Amino acid sequence: MTNTFHITTFGCQMNEHDSEIIAGLLEERGFSQVGERKNASVEIINTCSVRDNADKRFFGTLGQLKKRKEQEDDFIVCVCGCMMQQQHVVDTIKAKYPWVDIVFGTHNIKDIPALLEKAAAEKRKIVDVLPDMEEIAEDLPAKRLYKHKALVNIMYGCNNFCTYCIVPYTRGREKSRDPEHVLEEIRFLAEDGVKEVMLLGQNVNSYKGGGITFADLLRRVNEVPGIERIRFMTSHPKDLSDDLIKVFTECEKVCKNIHLPVQAGSNAVLKRMNRVYNRERYLELVRKLRDAVPEITMSTDIIVGFPGETEEDFQQTLDLVEEVRYDSAFTFLYSIRKGTPAEKFADQIPEPVKHERFDRLVEAVNRISEEKNALYLGRVEPVLVEGPSKNDRHMLAGRTDGFKLVNFAGDPSLIGQTVPVRITETKTFSLLGEIIR
Ligand code: 5AD
Ligand code: SF4
Repeated sequence: MTNTFHITTFGCQMNEHDSEIIAGLLEERGFSQVGERKNASVEIINTCSVRDNADKRFFGTLGQLKKRKEQEDDFIVCVCGCMMQQQHVVDTIKAKYPWVDIVFGTHNIKDIPALLEKAAAEKRKIVDVLPDMEEIAEDLPAKRLYKHKALVNIMYGCNNFCTYCIVPYTRGREKSRDPEHVLEEIRFLAEDGVKEVMLLGQNVNSYKGGGITFADLLRRVNEVPGIERIRFMTSHPKDLSDDLIKVFTECEKVCKNIHLPVQAGSNAVLKRMNRVYNRERYLELVRKLRDAVPEITMSTDIIVGFPGETEEDFQQTLDLVEEVRYDSAFTFLYSIRKGTPAEKFADQIPEPVKHERFDRLVEAVNRISEEKNALYLGRVEPVLVEGPSKNDRHMLAGRTDGFKLVNFAGDPSLIGQTVPVRITETKTFSLLGEIIR
């Protein structure tokens, strides 16, 4: 069991990618990753702080480790990620979980091998959290979750300070990677068999590495041989340019799908959220995207029960959802985050009201998803096969260009290939199909 590690990851794709890098760094040092926590000599918990439920799940997981830690002195527990960038969390860990060995943040994941060595040598607790990223660390190894699909960070941090959001405090200010570094990484990935890249940033539309725009970066990634599909997230509506819309029509590898968080449909709420666009501008963007790329699929994020949200405000969110008709939407109950401006806003919405609105929103979102998916019945879609289906290991799963999940029967040797699949049944969150020979 010596030198084995297990990672528990909470949160977004940015965190997932950080965990891939942590795994890459440790494997480079001779550690091996195991699938079950009980078989690991080092447990790493990569945390998320975006909503309260992620906090709770983290402390729940940590609590479960206490007994083992008491029994096995050489079992090492490391905690990292967004929550550790908040002083009050680090204070709580020091006070209530003194047996945690290593605490590190989002800006120094590259140091994990050194921190482990130091903790082992000095037999003491180590807390190493930096307030912001000093400089972007390049050439870090990553142990990918998927062989044919890779996450690629193009920027770090966020400057937008939406009033509900903790991310600008935990991930620091925006920093774009140099486009040459990004392209070099993608060329390397393509040589390693990667077919699809997901470019990651809190707001990819404000990318400006090496003086080029995000649209131009996409044009350059489109030229990389071997890469078949390019996706990106997340887009902020305030920075989505006409030039980016043009890229969807020019670059054949850029998937015709966009995640465009709206957060709310009422201008009063958008203003208090500091989103900088209004409903009209958002709807205009949707119209422009659909005019340019009629088949584009769209998803969004919506927060319900932001402070001061009236029934009328909420109706406007529902109306917007009915107007845009998203392919899918992530819906969230507003969750107070310590240190954000909205924490201090008057008129916090009572939980039962939030939940009642949430249920109505989910009903609309799911009904529309189901109706949109039903349009795919009988169509033949190119599907990039990702691996065995999550629900039935004997089936394969893959995605359409528009990011629809498709399950179908097929030989595992097809993993990594793009195959034509006829859609035979449609559901709310996925499609069923058969391979066309
Ligand atoms: N409460 C609820 N949802 C939130 N999000 C961010 N902060 C909060 C919060 N305090 C949601 C937003 C964002 C997504 C990643 O998480 O919708 O787009
Ligand atoms: Fe948070 Fe807003 Fe930045 Fe997104 S754009 S990470 S919601 S502050």
